[in-house]
Amino acid sequence: MRIDVITIFPDYLNPLREALLGKAIERQRISLGVHDLRDWTHDVHRAVDDSPYGGGPGMVMKPDVWGEALDEVCAAQEATPRLVVPTPAGRPFDQKTAVRWSEDPWLVFACGRYEGIDQRVIDDAATRMPVEEVSIGDYVLVGGEVAALTMIEAVVRLLPGVLGNPLSAEQDSFSDGLLEGPCYTRPEVWRERPVPDVLRSGNHAAIARWRRDQALERTYHRRPELLSALPEGDLDKADREQ
Ligand code: ADE
Repeated sequence: MRIDVITIFPDYLNPLREALLGKAIERQRISLGVHDLRDWTHDVHRAVDDSPYGGGPGMVMKPDVWGEALDEVCAAQEATPRLVVPTPAGRPFDQKTAVRWSEDPWLVFACGRYEGIDQRVIDDAATRMPVEEVSIGDYVLVGGEVAALTMIEAVVRLLPGVLGNPLSAEQDSFSDGLLEGPCYTRPEVWRERPVPDVLRSGNHAAIARWRRDQALERTYHRRPELLSALPEGDLDKADREQ
């Protein structure tokens, strides 16, 4: 997979070169390009923003600079990328989105700052490529960089050969629509707290049932709306007795 990020703070994306994602780059599972938006400015101040039409606080990112940047970055390969624009005004990003994007050959992230990017940039790009404006949650960050980092990490860990054990991704929270339950490792008793007996029983059916019950209970308490969103038939008889 190819991933490009356009930003006025390229160093913000440095964590992508660490740990798991860094390894994925080394192993050529992904190729990453981080581009400084100011490279496409033509004035001495290298300005990327201007005051908003209609008035109001804050600044808006200029369409001419973004237009040239996207033209160049998105023409660098034969394929057509998916353009992702992180914004608190976007559709919610979730695990389903991550899975869908993980099947794409090429993602380009356009990280805005200030009040956002002139809407015509997004509307113009959408005539040539799939564009998604997405939010990572109902809170406002100072720019799209941290949101891009979050989304890239969620996507890249799903690529084959990136996680040590592919079952980790299959058994994630959300993969069955539920939150994952608690997990334990040695020692058997820690600060007088024992590991639940069933996990040491060797009875795999009982362990699976216990894990499922824990996931249901946790989801019920923390994210009840996820339970109501489960498709009919996803709950078996034992689940319903919970
Ligand atoms: N930029 C600022 N806040 C954001 C959010 N919550 N999600 C995505 N991009 C953002």
